[in-house]
Amino acid sequence: QPTAQPFVPDHHTIRAIAEALPTCKGCELYCHATQVVPGRGPATAALMLVGEQPGDQEDLQGEPFIGPAGAVLDHILEDLRIPRKEVYVTNAVKHFKFVQRGKLRLHQSPRMSEIMACRPWLLAEIDAIKPKVVLCLGASASKSLLGGTFALMKDHGKLNSTPFADKVFATIHPSAVLRARDEPNRQQLQQFLTDDLAKAWQATI
Ligand code: URA
Ligand code: SF4
Repeated sequence: QPTAQPFVPDHHTIRAIAEALPTCKGCELYCHATQVVPGRGPATAALMLVGEQPGDQEDLQGEPFIGPAGAVLDHILEDLRIPRKEVYVTNAVKHFKFVQRGKLRLHQSPRMSEIMACRPWLLAEIDAIKPKVVLCLGASASKSLLGGTFALMKDHGKLNSTPFADKVFATIHPSAVLRARDEPNRQQLQQFLTDDLAKAWQATI
C-alpha cells in the first residue's frame, strides 16, 4: 500500500510538516503535479477545514482553496462573519490529480488508496494544531477521517468523535455549489454548506 508515513516527521509542528512535505513520494501523485500544497492558517486555529485536493490554481500557486471553490468558501465564511485567517484550511490529498485535455487540466478524484496514502500528513496536521473542530468538505475528506463507508448526505452536519479529534463534522464540497446547473439548486447547496459550516463554527465556542 502506498503511504506517506516514512516522509512524515515524528515531531508534529506545522513548520516541520511544511518542511518535510515537498520530499513526499508516498504515492504517485507527486510525479505530475507542479508542487505540493500544504495547509494554511494559524497553528492556534479552533476550526480546521479539510478539502479534497488542490485544484489547478492551487497547484500552480501552492496555496489551498484560492481558485473557484475557494471563492465559494470565502463567500460563505464572509457571510457567517468567520475570518478566513483564523481558520486552518487543508486538503485530504496534498498533490493535484488531473488528466490533461489540450490546454486544460481536468480534476480527477483521488482513489481511496491515494487518500489513505496521504492521510498521515492530515493526521500530523491535526496533531500539530489540535483544532477544537474539524469539518470535512466533501466525500474524500470524509472518507479519510470518518471512514470509507461514511454516508455524507445522511450524516452531514452531525457530530462525530474520532481517536484524533473529538469533534469532526462533514458537509458537501464547495465545488458542488459551482457544479449546480440552475439557480434554485445552486442557492440550496450554498445554504446547505452554510448551515453545516455555521454548526461547525458554533461547536468551536
Ligand atoms: N478543492 C479542494 O478540495 N481543495 C482546494 O484546495 C481547492 C479546491
Ligand atoms: Fe505524498 Fe500525499 Fe503527495 Fe501522495 S498526494 S505524494 S502521499 S503528499
